[in-house]
Amino acid sequence: SDSSPAAGLPLAFHGTVIHSRSLTELEVLENCFIVVDKAGKIQTLQANVQPEQINTILSDHGYAPDVFPIKRLQRGQFLCPGFIDTHNHAPQWAQRGLGIRGESLLDWLNKVTFAHESKFQDPEYAKQMYSSCVTGFLQQGITTASYYGSHHGPATQILADICFAKGQRALIGKCNMNRNAPDWYRDSTVEDSLLETHALIKHITTLDPESHLIKPILTPRFAISCTPDLLQGLGDIAKEHPTLPIQTHFNEATQEIQYTQQLFPQFRTEADLYRKYGLLNERSILAHCIFLEEEEIKTLQELDCGVAHCPISNTTMQEFMVAPIREYLRRDIKVGLGTDSGGGYSSSMLDAMKQAFIVSNARTMLTKGADEPLSLAEGFYLATLGGARVCGLEARVGNFVVGKEFDALEIHSGELLDMPGVMSPVEEEDSILAVFEKFLMTGDDRNIVKVFVRGRSVKV
Ligand code: GUN
Ligand code: FE
Repeated sequence: SDSSPAAGLPLAFHGTVIHSRSLTELEVLENCFIVVDKAGKIQTLQANVQPEQINTILSDHGYAPDVFPIKRLQRGQFLCPGFIDTHNHAPQWAQRGLGIRGESLLDWLNKVTFAHESKFQDPEYAKQMYSSCVTGFLQQGITTASYYGSHHGPATQILADICFAKGQRALIGKCNMNRNAPDWYRDSTVEDSLLETHALIKHITTLDPESHLIKPILTPRFAISCTPDLLQGLGDIAKEHPTLPIQTHFNEATQEIQYTQQLFPQFRTEADLYRKYGLLNERSILAHCIFLEEEEIKTLQELDCGVAHCPISNTTMQEFMVAPIREYLRRDIKVGLGTDSGGGYSSSMLDAMKQAFIVSNARTMLTKGADEPLSLAEGFYLATLGGARVCGLEARVGNFVVGKEFDALEIHSGELLDMPGVMSPVEEEDSILAVFEKFLMTGDDRNIVKVFVRGRSVKV
């Protein structure tokens, strides 16, 4: 099928490999030899290999010498794990950048977003736009994305088909929303909303029964747009399907929190609310997590929920919102990064990472130094292995370990691509870590020359 990894031959590389072993341990492997088998899994990973040793290693793995090409990476080139975008909205792809500066969340939804998302009623439009979206994400090195679809079931099935065909690893959810949105853009009944959710689960699990690439995800937009019986129905589905992930927006803005309290006066906090409906557990991906009470942080910790940190949208809407990421990390709560595009103007994980650094500096100031800023290694971890943990995929992706699947980026510095001035030029005295830092801070998708998911080359 289309999702099958590298056709024919295994893949092999020799050169620099950079990945996270944990939040604080960034590992640089030089002269690393990697073989990816035909199933897209890392079969061999060995550092400090001299070229003349390669044939011996190959024969140890049952390969005849010189049967397949080995890509030799030069100085200024390296491999790193693919980026994992833990939160974004596929139907906002063509809406990125519009009407967000200083706007309140609810006004932005009502003035710009719902009208835009309603266009996905048309399957032809959905095909065209989702195709552009998935290609664009892959181009920027996003090998895994957790997508919110529109509220339309059929369009969301199209999104799943496209991720599968183009080879992107993805969690895909039909957005559940049956109130506080215009008649022309919401689920008309709870039954409809749940039926379309069931249909999407069935569609995706039929297409990819072993979830090699794509998985359905329950996606109540947020409590404001769901009636209690809809939330309960989704909680029941979560119980029926014990491995189904769940995503929602959580404690995103003051206005949103106050309105949620008005609608659900029986709950003191959003953590109470989502927990009571059966939507908080180790499969939950909670976007934003800005204003949590101590009690809520404890709940996230106890239930092992994941946080999708979205620093771009958090700092470009009405308030400058600083999520207490250091506190979450201190408690070993799972944290990944989200572009939140289109609430975030950019769908680049490099941009999200840079904004995470800026926001963490603001947090340091607000806590008078108690919460130290994110380091480069930590920011990169959030964009890769941290995101894999949040999406429940750490056993399969996020870093390079024998047996994991090869989701990777091949990075080339600017002058190697004859694009001086794009990425800060690599100089003679630069260490490999300096090259890596220059890429993260000044590189862009042009420096991401190849993107692999399960060993398949997916950047066009
Ligand atoms: N809360 C409810 N819907 C949305 C959305 O589309 N984007 C963001 N950032 N927050 C939301
Ligand atoms: Fe969002």
